[in-house]
Amino acid sequence: MTNTFSANSPLPLVLTGFMGAGKTSVGQVVANKLAREFVDMDVVIEEEEGMPIPKIFETHGEAYFRAREAVWCERLATRDNLVIATGGGALVNPSNRIRFKDAFIVCLDAAPDEIYNRLKEQPNRPLLASTNPQQRIIELMAARRDAYAQVEWHLDTTGKTIEQVAEEIVRLLVPRRISVSVPDSVCPIFVGAGLLGRVGQLINLTTDDFSPRCAIITNAHVSRLHVSPVIESLRRRNFEPSVIEIPDSEKFKTLETARTIYDQLLDAELDRQSIIFAMGGGVIGDLAGFVAATFLRGVSLVQMPTTLLAMVDASIGGKVAVDHPRGKNLVGAFKQPHAVIADTSALATLPEEELHSGMAEVVKHGIIGDIELFEMLERDPRSSPVPTEGRQNWITRAMQVKIDIVARDPLEQGERSKLNLGHTFGHAFELLSNYELQHGEAVSIGLVCAAWLAVRQNLCVAEVATRIENLLRAIDLPTRVPREMSTDAILSAMATDKKRVGGRLRFVLPRALGQVDIVDNVSPEDVSAIIDERREE
Ligand SMILES: NC(=O)c1ccc[n+]([C@@H]2O[C@H](COP(=O)([O-])OP(=O)(O)OC[C@H]3O[C@@H](n4cnc5c(N)ncnc54)[C@H](O)[C@@H]3O)[C@@H](O)[C@H]2O)c1
Repeated sequence: MTNTFSANSPLPLVLTGFMGAGKTSVGQVVANKLAREFVDMDVVIEEEEGMPIPKIFETHGEAYFRAREAVWCERLATRDNLVIATGGGALVNPSNRIRFKDAFIVCLDAAPDEIYNRLKEQPNRPLLASTNPQQRIIELMAARRDAYAQVEWHLDTTGKTIEQVAEEIVRLLVPRRISVSVPDSVCPIFVGAGLLGRVGQLINLTTDDFSPRCAIITNAHVSRLHVSPVIESLRRRNFEPSVIEIPDSEKFKTLETARTIYDQLLDAELDRQSIIFAMGGGVIGDLAGFVAATFLRGVSLVQMPTTLLAMVDASIGGKVAVDHPRGKNLVGAFKQPHAVIADTSALATLPEEELHSGMAEVVKHGIIGDIELFEMLERDPRSSPVPTEGRQNWITRAMQVKIDIVARDPLEQGERSKLNLGHTFGHAFELLSNYELQHGEAVSIGLVCAAWLAVRQNLCVAEVATRIENLLRAIDLPTRVPREMSTDAILSAMATDKKRVGGRLRFVLPRALGQVDIVDNVSPEDVSAIIDERREE
């Protein structure tokens, strides 16, 4: 399910940037694509004054023209569904930038030579009336650099066609929006680069019925890297966010930490209409989600995952929990978020090993329900982690597998347990390594064991297991059971797995790529055989 941002957000899109950057021509194409009205501010001023801009400069002077620009910024900022091309100098004036504080402003950039080439045949450029226009362009650009730097979004148009630039803007403006529908709620999932700076806007899109007081729950590390744009964006929408930082690590995903958060929420005077924003990896998502499910008998939750694992897995589906001394995630709830906002550019700061860990879950989703995703990864197993268009595509594909399963089985009464593929083995490896193995590494070995167990059970052909093992190896994930872990220790660690039902071990096993079964009747001998066979040499 996709949806366009423009359909939901009437706020103006404003294009600014130096003369010749393409504001007018690109603006027209973008307006067409978004079915919006296009306004060229220079043209409306010319019409109002009854003369072309060089004549306005000549007759009334630049200050007069700038004053007219300010009036038009004021008028247009409150009109819905517009794409506005401003004159190159309009947003140099800070008051005009403030007038457009709610708009989505994009500054189009281009190299000076390219600007000169685009403009050299055009008359009507009073600011370039000089014996050395090239030098004049460089000087004017330098004079405006600081003002343009205040604009949040920049797009380099050098060497690009109008159509290409327009496409890029539409992509910026239209985050991929998918949604998970469970009984009584539909949770929109926004995926795209730079969305943390647009949280306020995205929340307003979904409903306006929230208290201004809200809380962002995160940790100090993620906060330092990513919280500022979130705060700014929320404040622009009249929210009053408090930032609550908790210590970083699974060790603190506990009831005790939840209690300290309740104290801070009470101090910040949140009420039943408040939102809790969970910004971070799965630990934050689970803990802040648990708090949102229980504080004042439940307040709204917005998941803002910043790790790959949290984007493709933990933030979707509404399972929230804290750990108990006797096991992980033993105290929890189902709490569907009001929205999920996955800013893929946050992945740029994620340490390599965390990306790795997330990749195991991405592969898992391919095996469970999307052979094309699996094949995409086979073709390019080391595709860049930073948000390129391709990456975004596979992130949304990986999310979609979970979304589809959660929509069919929101309370994990059946099919949803397919998402545990590789985890019965994986949890045992994680535990026996004393958590030295990353979760994703343990899952990776678990996926390989599950695949070969499926072959042994005659559930799938060996080629399936070989492809799974080869892909994980190509991603640099481990595929062999650690030498030091004895088979007995692994079997007994599995026997304490929370996912066991009525004392029996339950496995999720691949039948083919993109298709898995839940299997209850596996003998311990078969499991032992696989562990022995897959151990490191
Ligand atoms: N609820 C669910 O359905 C579900 C599903 C899967 C996993 N989980 C839970 O998720 C947790 C694991 O999540 P995780 O793998 O995201 O680990 P995590 O939350 O511990 O995050 C990993 C590390 O990355 C840091 N980090 C996060 N975002 C960053 C960024 N953008 N840049 C730099 N550093 C960043 C964190 O501070 C942390 O140190 C576990 O507690 C697991 O139980 C829940």
